[in-house]
Order: sequence, then C-alpha cells, then structure tokens
Amino acid sequence: MSGVNEIRSAFLDYFRKEGHEVVASSPLVPRNDPTLMFTNAGMVQFKNVFTGLESRPYSRATTSQKCVRAGGKHNDLDNVGYTARHHTFFEMLGNFSFGDYFKERAIELAWNLITREFGIAKDRLLVTVYHTDDAAAGFWKKIAGLPEDRIIRIATSDNFWAMGDTGPCGPCSEIFYDHGDDIPGGPPGSPDEDGDRFIEIWNLVFMQFEQVTKAERVELPRPSIDTGMGLERIAAVLQGEHDNYDIDLFKALIRASEEATGVKAEGKNRASHRVIADHLRASSFLIADGVLPSNEGRGYVLRRIMRRAMRHAQLLGARDPLMWRLVPALVREMGQAYPELVRGQPLISETLKLEETRFRKTLARGLGLLADATETLGSGDRLDGETAFKLYDTYGFPLDLTQDALRQRGVSVDLDGFNAAMERQKAEARKSWAGSGDAATETVWFAVREKAGATEFLGYDTEQAEGIVQALVRDGVAVESAVAGDTIGVVVNQTPFYGESGGQMGDTGVITGEGFAIEVTDTQKKGDGLFVHFGKVTNGTVKTGEAVELKVDHIRRTRLRSNHSATHLVHEALREVLGTHVAQKGSLVAPERLRFDFSHPKPISAEELERVEAMANEVVVQNGPVTTRLMSVDDAIAEGAMALFGEKYGDEVRVVSMGTGIAGDKAGKPYSVELCGGTHVGATGDIGLVRLVSEGAVAAGVRRIEALTGEAARKHLDEQDKRLKAVAATLKISPADVPARVEALLDERKKLEKELTEARKKLALGDRSPAGVPTENETIAGVGFLGKAVSGVAPKDLKPLADAGKKSLGSGVVVFVGTAEDNKASVVVGVTDDLTGRFSAVDLVRVASAALGGQGGGGRPDMAQAGGPDASKAEDAIAAVKAALEAA
Ligand code: SER
Repeated sequence: MSGVNEIRSAFLDYFRKEGHEVVASSPLVPRNDPTLMFTNAGMVQFKNVFTGLESRPYSRATTSQKCVRAGGKHNDLDNVGYTARHHTFFEMLGNFSFGDYFKERAIELAWNLITREFGIAKDRLLVTVYHTDDAAAGFWKKIAGLPEDRIIRIATSDNFWAMGDTGPCGPCSEIFYDHGDDIPGGPPGSPDEDGDRFIEIWNLVFMQFEQVTKAERVELPRPSIDTGMGLERIAAVLQGEHDNYDIDLFKALIRASEEATGVKAEGKNRASHRVIADHLRASSFLIADGVLPSNEGRGYVLRRIMRRAMRHAQLLGARDPLMWRLVPALVREMGQAYPELVRGQPLISETLKLEETRFRKTLARGLGLLADATETLGSGDRLDGETAFKLYDTYGFPLDLTQDALRQRGVSVDLDGFNAAMERQKAEARKSWAGSGDAATETVWFAVREKAGATEFLGYDTEQAEGIVQALVRDGVAVESAVAGDTIGVVVNQTPFYGESGGQMGDTGVITGEGFAIEVTDTQKKGDGLFVHFGKVTNGTVKTGEAVELKVDHIRRTRLRSNHSATHLVHEALREVLGTHVAQKGSLVAPERLRFDFSHPKPISAEELERVEAMANEVVVQNGPVTTRLMSVDDAIAEGAMALFGEKYGDEVRVVSMGTGIAGDKAGKPYSVELCGGTHVGATGDIGLVRLVSEGAVAAGVRRIEALTGEAARKHLDEQDKRLKAVAATLKISPADVPARVEALLDERKKLEKELTEARKKLALGDRSPAGVPTENETIAGVGFLGKAVSGVAPKDLKPLADAGKKSLGSGVVVFVGTAEDNKASVVVGVTDDLTGRFSAVDLVRVASAALGGQGGGGRPDMAQAGGPDASKAEDAIAAVKAALEAA
C-alpha cells in the first residue's frame, strides 16, 4: 500500500469503517461560496452543515477533495516547479464530524490511522496545539503518549484555522513529520521552521465558532471536526520521499512529459517538467469542472496556468502542442478516482490543444521581444511596465508568465507601470464605445459591466449557486437597493441562470437572501458578458453587495434541455431525410415546445415526417452521452459541426455532439455535431420521446416544424388516444377497427346521398311537389310551362332538374325554385332551344330573382341561374315568370 491511489482508498476506507459517509469531492468551482474563486479545502462543501444552515443524513463524513490554490487569497502559482511542495492542484483527504465526535475522538482516529494503518514511526511525529488549548494537549499526551516537548504550543493564527474573513473557525492541531536531520529546518515555532525538515502532514481543526462579521464571533450549534491532509505530502512520507514531485503519481506524469519531449527531467529542465506535470493536473481538473480559458475571472486563472505550462513546454524544445498529449497519462493515473476526468477527456484534450496552438503563434515572438527588451538588464533590474503590458495585450502573456520568464535572471517587472498602461487602455475602450451609437437605454449595462466585470456562468454544471449582488437596475437606472414590489434587473458575480441565446429562452427561478426574495421571470445577456436576471422583489429589501442564493426553476430547465437537444436531433434527421440543403433559419427552444425553421422548397410529406421522427427517436433510445468540447471554429467545421451561416462566433466554440449514426456516411460516427452554447440533456434518453406536431410554411422556401418532447409529447399522444377511444366507443367497435369503419361509413354516406338526390329529383318531377304546387304542365302564352318550388334539392342539382323538365316538355319554359332551410332560394330557368329566339332564360331568371328579393342572375339563353334571400316568395317568383311570358 504505497501508491497514491491505494493511500487515498485506504484513508477513505478507514473512516468508512469508523462510521463515516464517503462523500464525493465537490467541484473545483464552489457552488456554495461566491467569495471563493476555487474550492481550496475539504470543508468548503460542508460550510453550511457546520453552521447549521444545511442538514445532511449523516453526521460523519470523509472525502478526498480536489483543491486548487491559484488566484484569489491562496495563490501558489508562482512557486510551483521551484519548490518540493507547492502545487496549484492538490487533493485534501479529510474526515468531518458535524456535532458528533470532537477533539478526543478526532485525535484518536488520526493517531491510529497514521501510526497503525500507515505504520509511521511514532518518533518521527510531533504535533502543535493552540497555546490555550490544554484539552487538546492533554489528549495528545493520553492517546499518543507524546512527551511535552513534542506537543508544541503555538500562539499565532497558524493554529487557529479560519475559512476566510467570515465562516466556521476554531483552534487547530497540526501533525508534523520529521524528514530527518540531513534536511535543514527546525520544528514548528522555532526560528527556522520554514525549512523543509519538519513538514505538516495533517491539520485537525476543532470547529467551534462562526465568524459572522469581522467583529462578531458566535459559537457553532455543536462543536465539530474538520481535518485536512495533503495526499501528495502523506504519499511522499509513505513512499520514503522528501519531495512531493518524487511520488509515483508525479513520476508517471513527468515520465510522460519526458517521453513526449525527449528531454530528461534533469538540471535546469527539472523545473519545467514539474511545472508541466502540476499545471496539467490543475488545467485538466478545472476544464472537467466547467472552467474554460478566458480573459476574466476563473477562466483567466486557468489561462494563466495553461500558458505558464506551455511556455515551459517551449523551453523544453517541444515543437508541437504538448499538454494535450499528456492527458491520457493523467487519466490513467487519476481517472478511476475522478470519473469526471474520463468523461471530460475529449473536452480537456481539445481545450489544451487549441490554447497551445493559438498561444504558440505569439509565444516565440513575444519571448523574442522580451529578450530584446531585457538584453541589458541584470539581477535586481526591472523591466518597464509598458513592455510587460505590450506582452500581455499583444502577445497574450499573463503578467505572471513574464515574471516567471525573468525570475531566473533576478529581473522583476515595474507593476505600477504595467497597471497604468492597463488603465489607459480601458479608458480608450470606454471612449470608443461611447461613440458607437448603441441605444441610450443600454448605456446602463455598459456602466454595470465596467464596474462588475463579466458574469461567470455556472449553469452548464449546476442549477443552484451562491453569488454576490453586483448591481441592481430599476427603470433603466442603477440603484443601490430595491424593495418588495419593485421590478428590477439583478446582476450577480456568478449565476447558474442561462441568458437567452441561440434560440433557447432565458431561465426563470428565484434569488433569495437574508430577508428578501426575487422572483426571476427572465434572464438576458447584456453588454458583453453580463447575465441580467429580470424579475420582481417579492419581499424584503435587496441591496448591492449582499450574498444571495440563486435557484433555477428545475422543471422548466429540464424541459428546455430536452427541447434543445431534440432540436439538434430533428435538425440532423431533416438533413438526412430531405438533404443537406436543409439549413437552420430560426429556432425557438421553449419549455413547452420547440420550433425549428429551415430552408426547404416544398411541403414535407407525411412519410418524410414519419422518417424524421423515427430517426430522432432512434437516437433518443441509444441513450448515449451528450458531450461538449471546445475547439477553434475551423477545427469544428472540419469535423463536420453544423454552424449557422452568418452567425458571429468567437475564437473558441462549444461543440455539442450526441448520438451515433446508424446508416450511410454517418454510421458509427457522432450523429449530431453542432456549434452550440445552449444547455443540453446528459444523455439522449433523457429526452424521452420526440413528437412532431406540425409542419408548414413561414416564407418562400422556409418550412417550420414544431415538436414536443418528454412529458409534453406523452400528453399529446394521450389526448389523441383518448379521442380515438371516444370515437370507437361511439361506433361500438374496437379502436383498431376505426379507420376501416369510418371509410365504410363515408362510402355508405356517399351512396345514400346519391340515392337521395335521385329520389328528390324524381319527386320534383313527379305528381306533387313538396310545396304542393300543381304539377300539370301548363300552357302560358302558347308555350309549354313547368314551374315548381322544390325543397331539399341542392342549388347545383337544380340545373339537371331543369334539363329533365325541358326534356319532358319537349318545347317550353321551366322554372325551378329551390328553397333551403335558412330561407334562401335558388332559381333556375330553362328555355328549350326552339324558343330561345323569343325568350332569354337570363332575362326570365332575373325576373324570378327580383321576386325572391334578389337581383341579377346569369347563364345562357337556354339555361340561367340566380338566387334570392326570401324563399317564402317561391310561388311569387314562378308567377312573375308566367307574367313575363304573357307580357312578351
Ligand atoms: N480546513 C483545514 C485546512 O484547510 C483542515 O481541513 O487546513
């Protein structure tokens, strides 16, 4: 048992057997502490458990916690590579008691682990206690049998541990290991304690208080325990090494770096390999936890770490990007303990490769400039701030990289000059922005952005986080506070709320703080990097600078994720079924549905829609993971990622892939690959079901599809099913027989209609009209005449009736007035050919129409038709035609 992986397991196992819950490491980006840049101790995830704000189902826990100390309060970046024990990333092993056991048991557990399980010789160990903590000193004597001179009392803050200016705190007791008298250094508390001989391996904190404000300290609800042991340090002890970089894990990483560069980790190259090994861990774990390189905040710290390693890769003579090639070695060493490394491997590799590719373009030129500028400088000299700023601004050299490059020559940088140059540039940017003509209403966001900096978006990994209110805007004006009832925009330093973009609607949810709550109804991006939560203060008063908890509406976000991922699947399926001319023209990802507009010249057939839907659902059922990677736009497009034409993308883009192609070119390859900044499901199975519900045109050559997913799709199908069942019940048959039966009924109806028409015709020509008009042919003005009012005959059937009438008369004039239930009338007049010289059907029908209260009418001299609003005048119409004949 001496490899790092075995030591980690042994630690957790030991505490598990002692009744502790083994809890997974929390992410490096703290969700529960907006003031912390990175998680830097095991207790961070338990902060609220200690203070009683949060309760967990266990009162003892043990973890192996990922920690980063670079940027912010604890910053070890500059020392890494040059010392035996500094790391940017390290693992902290810890055991925790939340009001369960306290000092005595904590000391007993620690002592037994290191002396019995780990077998460390007792005479190599000594401890410190806070100077007034007699109880702790007493327990060490009783449990460990340590003599007084090995229990050192320390009066300084070294033995009073505090998380920060506020938060849980208490006296602590540290366990030291003596690496032997061949190494210089004195015991803790002695003048040469900073030497490397006595090394702190474990810190036991007796959490007793909470620092509420700088001045106020209160007792915790129950005394608790928080311990932290650096895994790399204890591994060095157990592996008989003095230097953390000589433990198995670092040896393996350094070996990989040696193999990739062909340069041994010796002499002046030793530090470079160490920097690379350390920074590889920090960068990879940060990327796996959702941090991506940028020019601000956490992303900038990551960029600094990456670029520092990349400069050392260049020092080692690496010709091509190096870091990404070491990722497999890291995953081999640590992937089992931290599966997020395995899951994130593609994203990690591509992010490292992209950053190094881009940075190498300017690195050599920047170093050349630096060499020229410092040619004449020697130890104790300073590089001017202007040059350092030029390196920063034009060549992408973070300040600490320039400092690092000059360190070995004893040259420093004029920081005041650097800061002045930075300020000048910002002022110029402000000036040019003011003249750019942006809407005045948006001016407020620029001012907020200047003051608050960009908002850090945490929402790819979490739906809940803490933050600090940076700005409040009411009626377009920045304000210091807002009260219940106010409608406001809220800017927080970090947020899990997604700001509307790429068709995906902004998140809603709640923001709460001490005595106030804000209901967020929308989130929008503003002013280059701000996420603004819009909503209403529902109670209390919110002020800038206050700590808040942000909680995204989980159900709504879950639906948004499903609909966004389904949009990608439908997009790809449309391209496969209809052709690659299909390009996105618009998209709306709402919680209740998705809408997708795309180029296609004609309607989509039912059969095509069915195939699109089937294909999308095939990928849903695959239930493969949805992966996100970061690449340059060119690489992404070369990989076949779908990008939106005309869309402006940054240098780096997120590439979202899902599913595996089933047939054709895509078989076995990622099914959908798109540039996308949206939030997606974890695995395609989370979508549940994709159901297309409509297809139509929006503009020439642009079609629109609407679809539902998951529960909405199920409900939609359920409603359709209910309707079908209701029809079946009415017909008293099984649902399966409905289509055939409905078809049969329609056929039957058609047949009956035909029969009915025939019957009515016969009736109309027969002895008695429905209205009781005499049916005998008459002779009017010497011509044969047949006039009838008929009901139940459709207007279109009047002409055939008139034809039949003409035929039965042989020579004469026929008039049929059809009356409808709504009292409208239609009239047809027919004149046999031999009489068209004397009478025009058109003239006669107009006469009839006038009698019916209508006007007009049209047709030919032998057959004309008209209508009128008053069917009760049917007899009058017939009489009017008779009169017209007589008068002619
Ligand atoms: N919180 C303490 C530390 O960081 C012990 O875990 O040292």
